[in-house]
Amino acid sequence: MAVDLILKDGIVIVNDRETIQSIAVDNGKIEGFYKQGEEPEGKKIIDCRGLYILPGLIDMHVHLRDLHQSEKEDYETGTMAAAAGGITTVVDMPNSIPPVLTRKVLDEKIASASQKRFVNVGFYAGIGKIFDSSMVPDILGLKVYPHSPLLYGIHFDRKQIEKCVKLAKKHNLPLLFHPDSSSKDDRPRTREEFFHIHSCESEVNSVQAFLDAKVEYEARLHVCHVSCSATARLILEHRAEHTLTAEVTPHHMFLSGDMFPHDDGTAKMLPPLRSPYDTQMLAQALCMKCAIDCVASDHAPHTMPEKTAPFLEAASGIPGLETTLPLMLTEVFEGRISWIDFLRCCCSGPAMILGIPNKGILAQGYDADIALVRRQEWYISGADFQSKAKITPFEGRRVLAKPVTTIVDGQIVYHEGRFMVGPGIVGKVPIRKA
Ligand code: NCD
Ligand code: ZN
Repeated sequence: MAVDLILKDGIVIVNDRETIQSIAVDNGKIEGFYKQGEEPEGKKIIDCRGLYILPGLIDMHVHLRDLHQSEKEDYETGTMAAAAGGITTVVDMPNSIPPVLTRKVLDEKIASASQKRFVNVGFYAGIGKIFDSSMVPDILGLKVYPHSPLLYGIHFDRKQIEKCVKLAKKHNLPLLFHPDSSSKDDRPRTREEFFHIHSCESEVNSVQAFLDAKVEYEARLHVCHVSCSATARLILEHRAEHTLTAEVTPHHMFLSGDMFPHDDGTAKMLPPLRSPYDTQMLAQALCMKCAIDCVASDHAPHTMPEKTAPFLEAASGIPGLETTLPLMLTEVFEGRISWIDFLRCCCSGPAMILGIPNKGILAQGYDADIALVRRQEWYISGADFQSKAKITPFEGRRVLAKPVTTIVDGQIVYHEGRFMVGPGIVGKVPIRKA
């Protein structure tokens, strides 16, 4: 019997080395690995000579907006951006309008995504005054924003943090948090005040507060977008705890604040870009010290007027789905990040943190979520993004890797700039293992 698809003679990374192999895909799963000439028959064959066959990336921190913010992004454009970026699973944050605090809103998001998606879309929920536990079976984690709670009247004091930690423990979910101990009332009047409010000190203090609460309850904590060397150091001290994981974004690793005039919102995001020293230390924390478990884009799209407004009025957040893979693989090709660290942080690490089985590595029986990538020099241009958000601080940056074909569940979704299926045809809500 012929298998559905053969990815023939591509470059497959085995133990940090490039090998030439073919991968057979059948029934949405990886059927096996074959040496040249030993492949089974395939109903379809893709010639992968010169292409890297990689597990599709898992981006565990994205804002796909939709619902009442579809002018910024929706599940269609957001997951098209993911597919074009070699990302096969994204997990959507709950700070939407309306926020995900109830089963009703979660259901609306799941329904919308199922009609529009091009890749797998998972969900997080926030924590309201009373936690709606009926959401638990369909979410991959809880996410909280201490500096900007999803509900009016919630303050992230010690009691609130403990409540969140306890809930995460009770439902065996990771508690993701945006490390920032400022408050919504801290309104910056100048650029300097903005950076001062969202300082490294504020980030470190926030991580410390959650760590203090975790000690008692041993819940799983996940620190979102670590941006400061001091935070990476604090996390490193707690590395032995298997209940603590941490994430970094490409922009915090590869861009520093001094590279931008900050006249408008082009490079405005939370946490803000830091010093060149911080960027260096984050890359080290990822590669040498293993203080970082995963890379996520924090894809946070906003409209053109919101980003071109003067800095203080501009919205925080930048698109990232179409730049993560090219930026990360450029580091690999230039020898600054190993294949192991790339695969660990972009693919297997997030699958492990989220507890989603059968994703994140290329192995027999695993889901056939695959990115085919060409080593090629090109320059990032926001105008070419599938995302509705076209302003990127990486504009004009030289990169060395181009996603060519993206496969989800064994089906070719994207190939050389074109979408091969309609919206809602492929992709699922990834479910945690019990
Ligand atoms: C995010 C957004 O726009 O939703 N903005 C950002 O600057 N990262 C919110 C967030 O992740 O904090
Ligand atoms: Zn975010």
